[in-house]
Amino acid sequence: MLTDDDFLAVRIAAAVRLGLTSYPKWLPSWLFYDEAGSRLFERITDLPEYYLTRTERGILKAHATEMITIAAGPERLRIAEMGAGTAQKTMVLLEAAVRRQGEVLYEPVDVSDSALAAAKARIERELKRVVVRPRHGDYTMGLDLEPTGQRERRLVLYIGSSIGNFDAEFATELLLVVRAGLNKGDGLLLGVDLVKDEATLLAAYDDAAGVTAAFNRNLLVRLNRELVANFVPEHFAHRAVWNAAESRMEMYLDSRVAQTVRLNMLDLTVEFAEGEPVHTENSYKYRPGQAEALLESTGFHHEETWTDAKGWFAVCLGRVE
Ligand code: AVI
Repeated sequence: MLTDDDFLAVRIAAAVRLGLTSYPKWLPSWLFYDEAGSRLFERITDLPEYYLTRTERGILKAHATEMITIAAGPERLRIAEMGAGTAQKTMVLLEAAVRRQGEVLYEPVDVSDSALAAAKARIERELKRVVVRPRHGDYTMGLDLEPTGQRERRLVLYIGSSIGNFDAEFATELLLVVRAGLNKGDGLLLGVDLVKDEATLLAAYDDAAGVTAAFNRNLLVRLNRELVANFVPEHFAHRAVWNAAESRMEMYLDSRVAQTVRLNMLDLTVEFAEGEPVHTENSYKYRPGQAEALLESTGFHHEETWTDAKGWFAVCLGRVE
């Protein structure tokens, strides 16, 4: 039988073969998140240029009580989180739920066992009235959660602009899958990054300290290790672009020189021309009203949207009717 690790290895091999034998070349952004990549992403969230995490945290802090009150209605609430990571941004919502109902069950779903363990240890240490039940898994395949009890509602958190890494078609399919696992009255709290001036967007994806560049190049380090490849990461340049027509930030690794790379595990040799790009990420930025329309088109009733003073980020609540 295939273990989770075997399954991941097959998935990586298939994605890399497809992406690097395509023209133009691409690699999927989920490859960023090995242990080193997850640590680099945590560093990104603290960068002065990366306004997303800070802005969303401000919105959650200002409105957590109201969010929890609306989501719970007259019932008790349990909270699940898609791609929870270390669950740092979740604390203020859990605190609000504890204030409201005394105790709360929190079910973080993530592919990273180490992130889940860190989240559990941290939350149970800092918030004694939260019971953490981690769920190891890939939420894009659906949420495998225990049924809620009577007089209980579930609030699913999908925050951090994670939905932004998917195109409209995949985002729609994903929310339909989530919706299918929910009951009447359950809610989805969705955090999306909004379109803003180009300079702010570019800086957020190409910071002065070079952490995002290291995050992008770490993907090649991962391929060297996991596919026995011989990429020289310094031979690829990090580039971030605002694609206004598609309303998304794009990241690339541009080959600085003409070069040949060998991926032994795939028995594959790949040629790169000088300047040739490898597309590694899309990060969609929503226009006001777009996330609400997405919720409505996937079976949720849009209840409320909260935003910051600059209108940079939005957190929307949808409810199953
Ligand atoms: C995880 N995701 C929402 C981040 C984003 O902004 O798209 C990943 C990231 N890429 C570059 N910086 C951060």
